[in-house]
Amino acid sequence: MSPAKKDNMLYIGIDLGTSRSVVSCSNGSRKWVESYVGWPKDFVAKKMLGKRVLFGSDAVEHRLALNLSRPLKNGVLKEGTEQDEAAVQELIGHLIELADVGQDNDICVAVGVPAEALKINKTAIKNAISQHAKKLMVVSEPFSVAYGLGALDNTMIIDIGAGTVDFCIMHGTVPLEEDQRSILMAGDYVDEQLFKLLTEKHPEADFTLTMVRKFKEKHGFVGEPKRRVKIEAPVDGKFTEFDITEEMRKACESPMPAIIETAIDLIANFDPEFQQAVRKNIIVAGGGSQLAGLNTFLSEATKQFEPCTFTCITDPLYAGADGALQLADDMPEEFLEKL
Ligand SMILES: Nc1ncnc2c1ncn2[C@@H]1O[C@H](COP(=O)(O)OP(=O)(O)OP(=O)(O)O)[C@@H](O)[C@H]1O
Ligand SMILES: [Mg+2]
Repeated sequence: MSPAKKDNMLYIGIDLGTSRSVVSCSNGSRKWVESYVGWPKDFVAKKMLGKRVLFGSDAVEHRLALNLSRPLKNGVLKEGTEQDEAAVQELIGHLIELADVGQDNDICVAVGVPAEALKINKTAIKNAISQHAKKLMVVSEPFSVAYGLGALDNTMIIDIGAGTVDFCIMHGTVPLEEDQRSILMAGDYVDEQLFKLLTEKHPEADFTLTMVRKFKEKHGFVGEPKRRVKIEAPVDGKFTEFDITEEMRKACESPMPAIIETAIDLIANFDPEFQQAVRKNIIVAGGGSQLAGLNTFLSEATKQFEPCTFTCITDPLYAGADGALQLADDMPEEFLEKL
């Protein structure tokens, strides 16, 4: 830490995601919460719940009594909606509380957000954080992941989240807008495809989006199946077994052509002398990087262009927040925005 930094300063890294938000603090604390914020609808709800505001699974569980917000949709804050701006502010406050920072510390926060939100909502997100911190920095999620992994040069990060897949080429400096791309076919899109395929094939069964997301998180795969995927779903209230191997494969592979095309295109627009190095160094992050068979599938699919090497990271849940924490800690004073 540079001598200019104060002793009572605590550093916090936050990964503000569409589906999950994660905090990692210089006091060693690491926590995550589903990105839901809910306010009791009326005085009965408030009395029953005994809280001003609820977060994560607690909010989802009591959603019927709440005005519920998942503030980032498709990787951006819904423009001009006061409820969603307030939700981001509450969510950040909750994450800082979860990090157990205590009363006496000054707080310096770096927040990684989906690349599109950085372009469109930077001011709204800065305003939300400014309620809680002395100093702050807002960066794109794939950049914070790259920074945390020390993957600073000739590397591409592909962050497969819920709302967006974010791409970023690192070439030894803070990435610029032209080094980054974003597409909307990510985890939520896979869930919608799987839901559609299953309800079409088995109209007699009752599937919900939450159920199919759980099926995907447990059994999701791309490429040749290693085993059959069997799940249970209610038919007229009775749990019945279904083999959903083909539908699972089709849904999980549905965003792959767009992911591959965007990756190849971003590399093709990079300095030709360094393209080969980047192709050998593609890091796949985000919750979607846990799909079974993913790096083999991507390596096979890109062979027809130029061979590429993909590595899926080992700790996708915390990689963004840990990277943001490192950025907050390393950033020279003059880079941090003072509030
Ligand atoms: N084991 C798994 N296999 C496949 N997908 C998974 C698995 N676990 C989580 N996911 C999916 O990963 C996505 C969440 O990933 P992540 O937490 O990186 O997203 P996020 O940061 O909230 O979203 P975004 O980056 O778009 O804002 C969800 O779609 C989730 O269903
Ligand atoms: Mg993310």
